[in-house]
Amino acid sequence: MGRTEVARHPIRIREGRSDEFERLREIAFAAKAHWGYALARVQEWAERGDFEPESLSKRLVYVAEIEGEPVGWASLIPRGMVGWLEDLWVDPQWIGRGVGRLLFEHVAKEAGQLGFRRLEWEAEPNARGFYERMGGVYVRDSQVTEWGRVLEVLGLTLARSDTEA
Ligand SMILES: CC(C)(COP(=O)(O)OP(=O)(O)OC[C@H]1O[C@@H](n2cnc3c(N)ncnc32)[C@H](O)[C@@H]1OP(=O)(O)O)[C@@H](O)C(=O)NCCC(=O)NCCS
Repeated sequence: MGRTEVARHPIRIREGRSDEFERLREIAFAAKAHWGYALARVQEWAERGDFEPESLSKRLVYVAEIEGEPVGWASLIPRGMVGWLEDLWVDPQWIGRGVGRLLFEHVAKEAGQLGFRRLEWEAEPNARGFYERMGGVYVRDSQVTEWGRVLEVLGLTLARSDTEA
């Protein structure tokens, strides 16, 4: 059912634009709140600066859009041989319909083409099952805690673009 719906609404993935950062912050806020966290806590989290234009301009931002409207986005930060997946957020109206997979696979392909050996990220605990479906495996516990809990860093080894068919 969900897949059919996505098939009827072609998803385009493109680079983020500097004039849409507020919309991207809204999507991140709604996506994080989707897991049922206290809204005040999520609001504070969304306003702490990570989604300001200055922060986002330091990342490679990829936006998934349907009929010209952003429905999800992801971002990548270079860290040596590792491409760090800093963001992956799907508008709750579109969660569970294949947008996350498309974004993840797009970022993994881009990261491989940019020459990174691995893709790694800090996993929201509720999204762990999704990341396992994407092939992510446990790397280490994060140094950063979120709301008093230790997050896990997951990752996968990327296909090298020079050996791809
Ligand atoms: C996590 C998130 C990005 C996944 O995107 P999505 O569009 O809902 O995922 P998809 O519909 O593309 O699902 C892809 C696969 O993962 C599975 N999956 C999705 N979410 C899952 C979950 N929470 N637990 C287990 N499996 C999950 C799907 O069943 C699907 O499997 P299949 O393709 O083998 O049938 C999205 O749910 C989201 O934005 N969540 C809120 C914010 C968040 O936690 N972001 C991650 C921050 S680290």
